[in-house]
Amino acid sequence: MTLARLIYCSTVNGIGNKDIEAILEKSIVNNTLDNITGSLIYDGKHFLQCLEGGRKSVTARFKVILQDSRHKDVELIDFSPIKMRHFAHWAMAYPGSSTLDSKIISTYTADGFNPRYMMFPDAIIDMMWRLSQ
Ligand SMILES: Cc1cc2nc3c(=O)[nH]c(=O)nc-3n(C[C@H](O)[C@H](O)[C@H](O)COP(=O)(O)O)c2cc1C
Repeated sequence: MTLARLIYCSTVNGIGNKDIEAILEKSIVNNTLDNITGSLIYDGKHFLQCLEGGRKSVTARFKVILQDSRHKDVELIDFSPIKMRHFAHWAMAYPGSSTLDSKIISTYTADGFNPRYMMFPDAIIDMMWRLSQ
């Protein structure tokens, strides 16, 4: 099956850290079963997520995520075939919101973290990967 990568951002809809834990737990179980890998960034206001895997599996999971009321205003940034995974060792990498490294983020943004203004998929992946280390 074609290996694909999907990136989207969204706005958090009235949830807190407990809900993030639940999302991550569920993601790790489902993504392992579906052979999906990726990374999720949460800064308290926004989500930025990358999903990598078979195109059908990623499409199916994204349809479910789109309907999730824990976020809103989902904006698709990129959906492309890829040659290799960047997050092959993570069912869902998660650099915690309190440890988001502002130095790394400022390398990729003009003024602070706002995924709505991030346009370049490769730069987003690069940033997510560095934040996950
Ligand atoms: C920002 C965000 C990211 C999510 N990421 C994933 C994910 O990577 N994998 C996943 O299975 N569910 C993810 N979810 C949860 C799904 O929306 C949904 O609740 C879950 O897939 C349902 O799984 P179930 O059918 O096994 O109950 C995410 C939810 C949110 C709000």
